[in-house]
Amino acid sequence: MEKPTFYVTTPIYYPSDNLHIGHAYCTTATDTLARFKKLMGYDVYFLTGLDEHGLKIERKAKEAGVTPQAYVDKIAEDTTALWKLMNIEYDDFIRTTQERHAQVVQHIFKQLYDQGDIYKSEYEGWYCTPCESFWTKTQLKDGKCPDCGRPVEFAREESYFFRLSKYADRLIEYIRHNPEFIQPQSRVNEMMQNFLLPGLEDLCVSRTTFDWGIKVPFDPKHVVYVWIDALSNYISALGYSTENDQLFRKYWPADVHVVGKEIVRFHTIVWPIMLMALGLPLPKKVFGHGWLKIDGEKMSKSLGNVVDPVVLCQRYGVDAVRYYLMREVPFGSDGNFTNESLLNRINSDLANDLGNLLSRTVAMIEKYFGGVVQPMGERTELEDNLIQLAESLTAKVEDLMNRMQFSTALAEIWKLVGECNRYIDLTQPWVLGKSEDGKARLSTVLYTLAECARIVAVYVGPFMPSTPARMFEQLGVTEDGLKTWDSAKRFGGLPAGTKVTKGEALFPRIDIKKELESLAQLKAAQGKEAAEPKAQEQAPKAEEELIDIDQFAKIHLKVARVTAAERVKRSDKLLKIQLKLGNEERTVVSGIAQHYQPEELLGKSVVLVANLKPAKLKGILSEGMLLCADDGKGGLKLLTTDGEMADGAEIG
Ligand code: MSP
Repeated sequence: MEKPTFYVTTPIYYPSDNLHIGHAYCTTATDTLARFKKLMGYDVYFLTGLDEHGLKIERKAKEAGVTPQAYVDKIAEDTTALWKLMNIEYDDFIRTTQERHAQVVQHIFKQLYDQGDIYKSEYEGWYCTPCESFWTKTQLKDGKCPDCGRPVEFAREESYFFRLSKYADRLIEYIRHNPEFIQPQSRVNEMMQNFLLPGLEDLCVSRTTFDWGIKVPFDPKHVVYVWIDALSNYISALGYSTENDQLFRKYWPADVHVVGKEIVRFHTIVWPIMLMALGLPLPKKVFGHGWLKIDGEKMSKSLGNVVDPVVLCQRYGVDAVRYYLMREVPFGSDGNFTNESLLNRINSDLANDLGNLLSRTVAMIEKYFGGVVQPMGERTELEDNLIQLAESLTAKVEDLMNRMQFSTALAEIWKLVGECNRYIDLTQPWVLGKSEDGKARLSTVLYTLAECARIVAVYVGPFMPSTPARMFEQLGVTEDGLKTWDSAKRFGGLPAGTKVTKGEALFPRIDIKKELESLAQLKAAQGKEAAEPKAQEQAPKAEEELIDIDQFAKIHLKVARVTAAERVKRSDKLLKIQLKLGNEERTVVSGIAQHYQPEELLGKSVVLVANLKPAKLKGILSEGMLLCADDGKGGLKLLTTDGEMADGAEIG
């Protein structure tokens, strides 16, 4: 049977400088999705590339004293090297300076002109050079570019225009009838309210003030201006309108265009209208993700706050960086990049949770059974629960991945990892190992752990492509049939008798304090950015501000495990959270809804102020308070324990 196809794209990046971690974010997400779909049995085509024309490139090349072509060639080389390093498995890398692209763009431009959808006129407007966008006066924000906030120049020139207005009603209808087309849903309202409903203006699609572009075929003093050139890449790469159009016939329409939120407008208005005018089907989905920010600002070379993905991959390994990018920020929202959050994720989720699960499992099989996985014996409720969790994961992960909820999918997978670690604490293999009776039970416990670790290895593959092989090697899994998505749906595939071998730690623990110092030194040495401001030397606190130990002892802090969480109705700040503290259960209302999705909290060990007077919030009785760290700049994190800790444990 033929496999179903899946065509997915990243934006083609603008090579005005080397790519930074923000670009890597978008590409990693797309690669993760592509790998996941491949694992699911799809015939995937993944396109990425570079958008190499325009005034800004022309200027940059001049400054560098090279031709624009030489300039973009160098960046193309660096970009493909970065994707190789980051294990990005694309099928094609399109460059808009390639002849195969230019010929398709000229064909499209001419067809639209011949059918009257492109016409010649004169343009007047406010032009933002870095964004290559014209804006009307009312669209400007404080007189500056509404996208990047930089100054704009008034410009007037003879130009060709694309009749967006003619297709606006059809597009509005299409968006209304296809709720999946623009994702996440919030971006639909943005497009409708800000652009479509107020009425579309025709789009300027040619320039005469610079040369570095594709010539308009019938009027060569014009070059095709950015969006018709750039957007066409999604079909020029497939050979649209050429004799060699098998890929186009096979893969178009695209299943998902993954794009950053600032270019959703071009992908959900200009692009579908171009396709409608050409009589072609529209992409099934455009997903607009948020930005990775630094201190609340979008990362950009001009702000001097870019983070180099190469440095991070070299220091912590590609898989750790990919994991962080996909786990830290819910896809669709903006998120803040910090070295601290990256290092904390590596230590807690990878070194501790995942790494320890594998190393403890393998070490115990070696210690108690000479490295040979024993058969699964009688199951107790503990195994039943774990197996049920493992087997129910596929459906959950599939659903979340199809909705591009990468972070929540990882949180679900980590629930299994967390439960496996908890299972070790509950079954206490080191006690079972002491007696012959205990050893019979131990063979079941260690089988369960090894098999769950195998299943986890399958799940993490799309996110961390090199990790499964390293896990399989230690677990002794050689058969390809045990590495497939289908094999993860059913517990019990690992044959008894499999020989495990302890290897290196999957993710070595990092000394965070030392590492942050090294990063600060590196940054200073590179002279890229001023070193992070050092914490101000604190004057000793006045006596009356200090508390003594007896006062502190009045506060009862306890470890609590989150068992359920949901948003509080009519509040965008509050979450209602169910907690378990040993035998006790509590409800707490916490103002963290803008920092955590409810699903992300499940299974977390958090710190509760247990003897706070109960209070009603939005009609719900809150019995205590969860402790959070707040950096005062919009970053907020719940306090959790460093590794597994029984719920109900006292803190002090
Ligand atoms: N060349 C156009 C796209 C044309 S697609 C037909 C372009 N290029 S870009 O290089 O400026 O941006 C490419 C993508 O990178 C965008 O989707 C953008 O949102 C993304 N990112 C750039 N910086 C980013 C962050 N700091 N965070 C997340 N993504 C960001 O636009």
